[in-house]
Amino acid sequence: RFLVRLARRGLSCTVEPGQSVVQALQARGIALPVACEQGVCGTCLTRVLAGRPAHRDAYLSEAERQAGDCFLPCVSRSLDPVLVLDA
Ligand code: FES
Repeated sequence: RFLVRLARRGLSCTVEPGQSVVQALQARGIALPVACEQGVCGTCLTRVLAGRPAHRDAYLSEAERQAGDCFLPCVSRSLDPVLVLDA
């Protein structure tokens, strides 16, 4: 489990092992834009301000993956205890 902090909204949300970041936020009434929810379309692309994302998508290029400044919250997770998003 890890924490996502939404910098623009000024709130935090715990993501449990069995749920995606999108699902955890939905449970709190926050709807990120999504379409495929399988990490392939790029609709949910979100900027990462701090923390290292654990990429699980099939959308980002290797360079984008390594830059670590954006991720796909419908499938990807966090390597760090806290991931701060521009959302
Ligand atoms: Fe398609 Fe996340 S909704 S990549």
